[in-house]
Amino acid sequence: MMDAATRPLTLMFGFLALALMSYGTAFGAAHEEKGVNVGPGEMGIDAVIIDGPPIKADQVQSNEHATYPRGMTCAECHQVDFFDVDLVTSASKQFVNNFPNLSQEEIWQKVVAFLPGRERFAIATVQDDMPTATTVDMVLDVDEKVFYVVSERGTEKLLQLRINPNISAVRFKGWTVADGGAKQWVSVQMKGTAEVIESTDPRFMQLLEKYSLVRISKPRAVRRFDIIKVTPKQIYYFDTTLGKDSYSPYQLWLRDGSDS
Ligand code: HEC
Repeated sequence: MMDAATRPLTLMFGFLALALMSYGTAFGAAHEEKGVNVGPGEMGIDAVIIDGPPIKADQVQSNEHATYPRGMTCAECHQVDFFDVDLVTSASKQFVNNFPNLSQEEIWQKVVAFLPGRERFAIATVQDDMPTATTVDMVLDVDEKVFYVVSERGTEKLLQLRINPNISAVRFKGWTVADGGAKQWVSVQMKGTAEVIESTDPRFMQLLEKYSLVRISKPRAVRRFDIIKVTPKQIYYFDTTLGKDSYSPYQLWLRDGSDS
């Protein structure tokens, strides 16, 4: 039973609750309709920003998530906490987590098709926390899923790889905004480990011959070169045209990955 003193107070709370609720609905509706057009991206499609709640980098959008124009990234609408997760869930991984992926075998076949011969890569090696970027030609062994590089002996990258075998490499090709042309941008980015094979190693000559790795005479090659064998642990295959079939433009291949 309410007495005369508490009734006005209850009514007041009632009004307050109503007011808050209607404010909430109005805000919600406006929130859905609005959206700030911030212009086109590389593919010429306008991005429309509707701010969402802060998310962690490893969060996956639900099936009910609103659709948004192609080419937008999660970070355009969400404050994404990339640092407090696992240092692995990068922006590329967000695409992999949130959009359809090809099978591991399909990704591998795309990598193979993109690297048919002796392909120029930029590679990064590390010493004392300091990366060094250089260029090399790599040849893919399709069966072993490893790459071979012939390198001048005594180069900085070889000295570094002997101390720290971790290596990162990228090959990229295609349209830049400035060039115009077909809007396809493809890259193969890998991380893995490297082994330096010296010319005294019995594998050295076999590899030179198998892949026609050098065009100078063998007696010269033996004196001048080491071979680097690169074993990728993971490869990001990036292709802007995958998006048109609603696949993630980033496809992640893992050496120990298998399709479930
Ligand atoms: C165009 C802007 C926009 C983009 C781009 C966007 N979001 Fe959202 N997202 C929203 C908004 C707005 C909400 C809140 C919806 C609501 O409150 O009804 C939301 C909600 C969410 C939620 C919670 C509810 C749900 O549907 O799961 C998650 C998780 C989420 N987003 C993850 C992501 C991820 C991951 C990406 C990138 C792959 C992304 N979002 C891209 C606008 C966006």
